[in-house]
Amino acid sequence: MRWGCLKHFISTADTTRDEIQELVSWAKEHIDPFLRREQVHHDKRATLLFAEPSTRTRGSYELAAKLTGFEVDPVTGAEATSLMKEESLSATARMFARYHADILVIRTSLAGGARWVAEMLGRYGYHTAVHNAGDESNQHPSQAILDLLTLRQEFGRLENLTIGIVGDLKNSRTVHSLAWALRGFPGIRLVLVSSPEVALQPWYTEGLEVTVSDSLDALAGCNVVYVTRVQRERFANAYDYARVRGKFVVDATVLERLGPNVKIMHPQPIADGEVAPEIWSHPQVIMDQQAQLGVPARMMLLRRSLKYLPQPPEVEGVSPREEQVSDDHAAQTIARKHDASLRYIPLETGTVIDHLGGRAVPAIKACLGIQDHELDRHQVDVIGGLETRQLPSGCKCIIRLNGRFLTPAERAAIAFLAPTATFNEIRDGRRIKSKVRDPHMLRGAGQCPNPACVTRHDPEAALHPAFHGAGDGDQLVWCHYCEQRFPREQLFAN
Ligand code: CP
Repeated sequence: MRWGCLKHFISTADTTRDEIQELVSWAKEHIDPFLRREQVHHDKRATLLFAEPSTRTRGSYELAAKLTGFEVDPVTGAEATSLMKEESLSATARMFARYHADILVIRTSLAGGARWVAEMLGRYGYHTAVHNAGDESNQHPSQAILDLLTLRQEFGRLENLTIGIVGDLKNSRTVHSLAWALRGFPGIRLVLVSSPEVALQPWYTEGLEVTVSDSLDALAGCNVVYVTRVQRERFANAYDYARVRGKFVVDATVLERLGPNVKIMHPQPIADGEVAPEIWSHPQVIMDQQAQLGVPARMMLLRRSLKYLPQPPEVEGVSPREEQVSDDHAAQTIARKHDASLRYIPLETGTVIDHLGGRAVPAIKACLGIQDHELDRHQVDVIGGLETRQLPSGCKCIIRLNGRFLTPAERAAIAFLAPTATFNEIRDGRRIKSKVRDPHMLRGAGQCPNPACVTRHDPEAALHPAFHGAGDGDQLVWCHYCEQRFPREQLFAN
């Protein structure tokens, strides 16, 4: 697990292939007890907080919870709660935890809402486990488990399968969860068919063999075709939706072309006839069997959480470490720098942030709250175009802060934005040079650019933004909550 823990079930990004395989095998063991309507008594309470509409996920979680002996507390529709009075998701979830929910199953229109709630409840000391039943267009991890269980039932394996995925791949949380769950399984080939406007972002398929097409003809040779609806509710306007709807329909002609061995899956609901009604009852269309397997899959997930309930929820990323590189006499250093004919005046007291790539500078200025009038008054200098052997470009910027020293949190934030940064503190005639190692996570600074992210809507979540990065200044970073990727400069764009 990268950031999650066994108690919660938030995103398939948190799971390894072995864990997914184990979950699917364990889910399979729940099929017979489900079909026999066996009950297990656990004396626990499951609250189902569905702030977005749902038939399958809500219905199957409810049945799964009853069959595993939970007292079930269904809260259906945002209008059934004070969310409609603009109460935050944090406050709503905390109340249900206070009312002794052992497991809180959440469907929310806020991307990252489930992960945020899981962490927030842990911070308040609640033992409640959180299951993500769909957070905006981000993740739907229990759907991925039932999808894999369906594949395992149909093909007897999760390896060596060619899987066509058709429709709105950009906005489909089921596709995002499924693609990440398939990582690491040998011989998986994905054939992605969509309009370019709703193509799948490349980070979902890293490490998988992928063919991208805008034609259903590309599906020839697939073992299974997983069709998704165009998600009308995720489009900014009716015009954008109209441009992509109805482009890909799997009907009797397509099914015949694909041959007698292919299976057609769909997470449902079908919105616009993307699987034509004429083939809904065809034996190769297995979407209702797929939805039914949601019950044993969720029975397994609920029991799994019970097993780990006492486990503390928080699993942090690698913490940044500060390392002192040198401590010398500022006078000597300044003399050396003068010899090298530097174009800036040495500081007597303050900080020089060195070895910055130019792209990071605006974000660092924003992160430090540097105003332009400070630049005018020479409290702060930003000097670019300096030669260096430390950066591949051969060119660096420095930021010189006259009379200002940085906090460890500020240094960690700057190192996240510019992993090559070195910090020179000059005071009392000495220069202490340091670097931040492993700046892989930034907490408490920056703003997620995704307008649907929970940190943009929930006032308590807004206090705790968090981002992951690979420690390489040129790569994308991703929001800890909504899991979207973007260039790190955008964290401080507003
Ligand atoms: N597959 C799925 O999430 O369906 P519902 O929206 O009906 O829960």
